[in-house]
Amino acid sequence: MLLTGHTGFKGTWLTLWLERLGARVTGLSDEVPTSPSLHDLAQAGAGIEQVTADVRDRAAVRAAVAAASPSVVLHMAAQPLVRRSYEEPEETFAINVQGTVNVLDAVREAGGADAIIVVTSDKCYAPGPDPHPEDDPLGGEDPYSASKAAAELVAAAYRSSFGLPLASARAGNVIGGGDWGSARLVPDVMCALMAGEDVELRNAAAIRPWQHVLNPLAGYLALAEAVVRDPGTYAGPWNFGPSPDDELPVQTVAERLAELWGGDARIVAQPGEHPPESGVLRIDSAKAREQLGWRPAWDLDAALRAIVDWYRAYERGDDLRAVTLAQIDAYEAAR
Ligand SMILES: NC(=O)c1ccc[n+]([C@@H]2O[C@H](COP(=O)([O-])OP(=O)(O)OC[C@H]3O[C@@H](n4cnc5c(N)ncnc54)[C@H](O)[C@@H]3O)[C@@H](O)[C@H]2O)c1
Repeated sequence: MLLTGHTGFKGTWLTLWLERLGARVTGLSDEVPTSPSLHDLAQAGAGIEQVTADVRDRAAVRAAVAAASPSVVLHMAAQPLVRRSYEEPEETFAINVQGTVNVLDAVREAGGADAIIVVTSDKCYAPGPDPHPEDDPLGGEDPYSASKAAAELVAAAYRSSFGLPLASARAGNVIGGGDWGSARLVPDVMCALMAGEDVELRNAAAIRPWQHVLNPLAGYLALAEAVVRDPGTYAGPWNFGPSPDDELPVQTVAERLAELWGGDARIVAQPGEHPPESGVLRIDSAKAREQLGWRPAWDLDAALRAIVDWYRAYERGDDLRAVTLAQIDAYEAAR
């Protein structure tokens, strides 16, 4: 299997899970995106083949795909931050759109694969009534969202023009232990709590479909298996979102984390202007539930408990590879 973006937050959880499943994995990323990082703390590179390459570098991607000759490709490498996309729109489009073209083209040139999963986002939908089913119009007003909508169009074109067994996955706001992405809720809240500081929120009222990172990753794995088995039925776009009960305001999630952590941290509004983000975003995952038998095995409460446990282990200096693998085992047991 070729996994792009393997050094990132979702990529590291998936690398460890795939290792547990006994898969042979080649990871392709340009760097380790944060410091600290789950990738380093959990020594996730230890059991796989690693390639350092920029997805914007067509020749490097082509060489990596040819060398790995993967039967399954999971493309997650991206500039994933809305905020950064306002500061670096050109970089965001280049990585997220041309990078996707480069990966898919390299796979096409290498003779295809048994399944290709392109990870986009719940933000790929044009603003409009929600929850969004998969056939809602694509759009996105900020550069990140537009780049993910464009990546969806690229994926659809490679599927229909070249007959690639290709599905795209649109997941909601993903949370879990080991995230250090900038301007994301859980890292911001947990870093403040660990430092004993007040928790500052930007868009406290924004409602998001929160889910533990293992929920969509389980969906990606189920989808890859289904596409290998029957590409004619399972290729195409798929939503992976939590139950409507877990679509909650930023403020509520921050308060629950603070409560579970203990102490007397206050939740306060961050001063200053913030780039606009949609107030409400919900997706309809009925297709994945009905056709893939997928369900989010951990609800938000289980996710928040696992997150607090993970950061406590980090604070204590525990073996985070063992801690992360144990959470994957616990998740498997809950399915
Ligand atoms: N985290 C979320 O809430 C969320 C929600 C919806 C969709 N997604 C999508 O899931 C995927 C993974 O997100 P994440 O949260 O793990 O992000 P992350 O920033 O933790 O990881 C991104 C990964 O992509 C790699 N990467 C970035 N630019 C690259 C480049 N030019 N060439 C090669 N590799 C490059 C990084 O090195 C890293 O391995 C992304 O496609 C993201 O858009 C994430």
